[in-house]
Amino acid sequence: TDTRRAHPSGRRHLPDAPLLAAAEGRRPRHRPVWFMRQAGRSLPEYRELRATTGMLESCFNPDLVCEITLQPVRRHRVDAAILFSDIVVPLKAAGVDLDIVAGVGPVIAHPVRTAADVRALPRLVPEQVTPISDAVRLLVDELDQTPLIGFAGAPFTLASYLVEGGPSRNHEHTKALMHGEPETWHALLGALADTTIAFLQAQLAAGVDAIQLFDSWAGALTEADYREFVMPHSERVFAEVANAGVPRIHFGVGTGELLGAMGEAGADVVGVDWRVPLDVAVGRVGPGKALQGNLDPATLFAGWDVVEREVGKVLAAADRALEAGAIGHIFNLGHGVPPDTDPEVLTRVVDLVHRS
Ligand code: CP3
Repeated sequence: TDTRRAHPSGRRHLPDAPLLAAAEGRRPRHRPVWFMRQAGRSLPEYRELRATTGMLESCFNPDLVCEITLQPVRRHRVDAAILFSDIVVPLKAAGVDLDIVAGVGPVIAHPVRTAADVRALPRLVPEQVTPISDAVRLLVDELDQTPLIGFAGAPFTLASYLVEGGPSRNHEHTKALMHGEPETWHALLGALADTTIAFLQAQLAAGVDAIQLFDSWAGALTEADYREFVMPHSERVFAEVANAGVPRIHFGVGTGELLGAMGEAGADVVGVDWRVPLDVAVGRVGPGKALQGNLDPATLFAGWDVVEREVGKVLAAADRALEAGAIGHIFNLGHGVPPDTDPEVLTRVVDLVHRS
């Protein structure tokens, strides 16, 4: 079929996909919508599949990855699939001793805190993520016209897990290393950028249609620290994947103060959490980029009347952002789908956005 027609890059050709149109500044046939964490615990069919299989084990099983990734596309008719994986998968694949603990998140056996720890940190080689590449190939065959978003964790967010040893509220150890031993810090972020680049390149070679870099915890930093200690490494990631020619999305939580810098780092699309209305965000990002977001996920629990009203506010702010120079809008939540969300509400949001 048309979608399988070889593109010069070997990539699928999806000129009518609303997500890609919005990201590239073309006019989409309807407003594209997808949800961060759409593949996961809000879906009973996901819980059933995962009942007997650990999170990381699932991430290295191509058939399971393919099926879990497709579930929300079938159910909600979202405009993109996002690869079912996790930001720590490339670290695990490279040999870092870690696990994903339900209700907690990634837990690292030996936190990385010294120059010797950083020297010992393995870098990913693409062959170590063959099961993920295989899953991507299965998916692009199955997905027909729906784009597949690949992703990776940004160097800072990965560093936060490695240095703290697990999830952290205040990132004390991470910031102590950053300010106390800047050379070790930059060596660590450089190594993590190498791994992130290798992971994204493996996904791109297997055919993903867009990529999102999650710097989920970058909002913990001042803009000056972000620019000095983090941005050069994320910039290198974006630069190294630019030749693939696919839209690059950059997202973090609580990053209202960093939106300009996160756009400058090389993104085509800037993801905005729920704290900054999109018509304010456009002023910080500047013209010429698309925006993604940004319904407060908590809204999904407030009853349909409230959801409808709040979706309307996001769309109205997005329209003002488009008038102010944003080249496109991709509807999303301001962060991931909470596990106890009623999936029917998500399906109704998709319909509502498509009818807008
Ligand atoms: O739509 C999707 O779900 C795509 C797959 C996806 C997962 N993690 C699956 C997952 C994606 C894109 C991620 C990225 C990720 N992982 C991020 C960046 C996004 C963000 O939330 O800001 C971060 C920070 C992580 C680290 C991580 N992994 C956390 C904080 C958790 C939650 C721990 C918990 O149990 O509450 C995980 C585990 C995880 N990743 C789950 C899923 C579906 C839950 C594990 C399970 O189902 O048992």
